[in-house]
Amino acid sequence: MDLGYHRKDLLGLEDLTPNEIQFFLDTARSFKEILERPQRKVPTFRGKTVLSLFFEPSTRTRMSFELAAKRLSADTVSVAKATSSVKKGETLLDTMKNMEAMKVDVIILRHESPGAAHFLARHTEASVINAGDGPHEHPTQALLDLFTVREKLGTLEGIKLAIVGDILHSRVARSNLFGFTKMGAEVMLVGPPPLVPKSFERYGARISHSVDEALEWADVVMALRIQKERLGESFFGSDREYRRFFGITKERVQKVNRQFVLMHPGPVNWHVELDPEVVDLLDTVILEQVTNGVAIRMAILYALLARGGTSS
Ligand code: CP
Repeated sequence: MDLGYHRKDLLGLEDLTPNEIQFFLDTARSFKEILERPQRKVPTFRGKTVLSLFFEPSTRTRMSFELAAKRLSADTVSVAKATSSVKKGETLLDTMKNMEAMKVDVIILRHESPGAAHFLARHTEASVINAGDGPHEHPTQALLDLFTVREKLGTLEGIKLAIVGDILHSRVARSNLFGFTKMGAEVMLVGPPPLVPKSFERYGARISHSVDEALEWADVVMALRIQKERLGESFFGSDREYRRFFGITKERVQKVNRQFVLMHPGPVNWHVELDPEVVDLLDTVILEQVTNGVAIRMAILYALLARGGTSS
C-alpha cells in the first residue's frame, strides 16, 4: 500500500490536503474489507506500541482506537485521567515524558484544552493523534463521517450536508466543516443564533437558524449533541425548548416527507436533538459510523506507524 500521508502527527483537518484525506478514505476501505473477514487481524505492526491518553470521557473513540491497534497487532496501553497520577497534580508534559520513556510509538490524546495535542506533538518524537481537543477539532471523527457518507452516496463532491446543533462548542462540526468542504461538499451549519456564529461563513459554510430549511435542503443531516458540559445556562432555556425549535422530531420528518441520510457522532441525547422514532423513518447510519470508526482508525495508525515515527 502506498503511503499518501507523510506527517508525523494527525492533529486536525484544517491543514490537510484533499489528497491526504482521500488517502485515509481509500486505505480505510481496504481495512474495512479485512474487518469483514473471519480472521480480522493482520500482523503488520507487531512490536509497536500505541498509548491512549484520555483526559475526557469517551466510549467510541477510545474503544475503536484500541480495537484498530489490536487488529494491526500493535500493543496497546491505556491511561485515563481519573486513575492516573494527573489526579496527584502531574502535568500533561510530565505524563507524556514518562510514557515516552517506556517507548511508545503513537500517543492518542483526548483533552479538554484546544491545542493540547499540538502542544504534545511538539514535545515528543512519537506520533500524536488528536482524539478531540476541547471545542477545537476531532479529526478522526470527521474522517469516519466522510468515509460513511462516501460509502453511502458514492461521492462527496456536490453533496449537501447540514450539521444541526451546538456548532460553537463542537469539535465534530469544525472538523467536518473542514473535511467536507475540502472534498467538494456544501455545508450548512444550523442552530440557535448564539451557537452558530456568522463567523463560520469564512470557512465556506452557509448559516441557518431553521431546522425545517435544513431538512428541505440536505442530502445528509448530522445532528449534534448539546454539550451541556461546555455550555452556560444562557444559550437556551431548556431541553424541551431546544427540541421544539431545533430537534429532529417525528413531526418535522413526517412534514418534510423526503429521505435523507441521518448521522450522529454519539453520544445521543434522545428526545432533545433527536426523537428515537426518526431513526426508522430515515436512512440512518449512526451505527455504521461506529463500525467505520475502526477501519478509519486502522488507516490512521497504519500511516503513522508505517512512516516509522517512534520514540523507540
Ligand atoms: N463521537 C465520539 O467522539 O464519541 P466518544 O466521546 O464516545 O468517543
